[in-house]
Amino acid sequence: MSGPRVLGFDGVTVRYQPGSVPVLTGVTFALGQAERAALVGLNGSGKTTLLLAAVGLVGHDGLIEVDGLQVGRRTAAEVRRRTGFLFNAPEDQILFPQVIEDVAFGPMRQGEPRDAAYRGAAEMLDRMGVSGLARHPVQHLSHGQKQRVALAGALVNQPPLLLLDEPTSSLDPPGRRALARVLDGFGAAMLVATHDLEFAGRFCRRFLVLDAGRIAYDGPDRLAAERLLGS
Ligand SMILES: Nc1ncnc2c1ncn2[C@@H]1O[C@H](COP(=O)(O)OP(=O)(O)O)[C@@H](O)[C@H]1O
Ligand SMILES: [Mg+2]
Repeated sequence: MSGPRVLGFDGVTVRYQPGSVPVLTGVTFALGQAERAALVGLNGSGKTTLLLAAVGLVGHDGLIEVDGLQVGRRTAAEVRRRTGFLFNAPEDQILFPQVIEDVAFGPMRQGEPRDAAYRGAAEMLDRMGVSGLARHPVQHLSHGQKQRVALAGALVNQPPLLLLDEPTSSLDPPGRRALARVLDGFGAAMLVATHDLEFAGRFCRRFLVLDAGRIAYDGPDRLAAERLLGS
């Protein structure tokens, strides 16, 4: 890890119900500035839970830090402001009927004037390869298009940390390559939950493997990660 940590997990355990079997157990790792890691694991291994815990959307025992803030009820709103989050279902985070309005909302909420926010949003849609969709109604977009719009919204405030939950799940191969290029050019620390190690290997040199809620591997060896996934 290089420099101060942007995301830190120390002995993090998550249970959805008190007294139930933990979904994450003793998870410990850290990401430095601009460091990128793929978070891989079979269905149900705890990837989404880990990302949600990082921004305080599910409770945890142990310590989680984002950009120097200890994640908890009091800090959750500020943690979310400093984090770009792509949910597994993009519908969950697109709030406005028109694409450009939705992407411009983040900067406007941060206090940017409307014109600057719309310019920034248009630029980010262009980087995502969907500038032609700016004036489209969100409800007419395909799932893959919604995913790119949601990602533009997550990136537009230039957050120091990006948490992406299966960002390629509905992208075609050219869409995946374009996304890998965009992410590669972005200076944030990133944790990317994915099943697609070929995609992740394009811009991540670190693989975190979750196995039934525990970190089973943390290192640069993609083949070791693949073996643990049984692929
Ligand atoms: N809201 C919830 N309440 C109870 N159990 C949950 C909830 N969300 C996820 N789980 C359980 O937690 C485990 C990990 O799920 P999840 O984090 O979604 O894994 P992944 O993203 O790796 O597929 C699974 O056993 C899942 O059933
Ligand atoms: Mg998941």
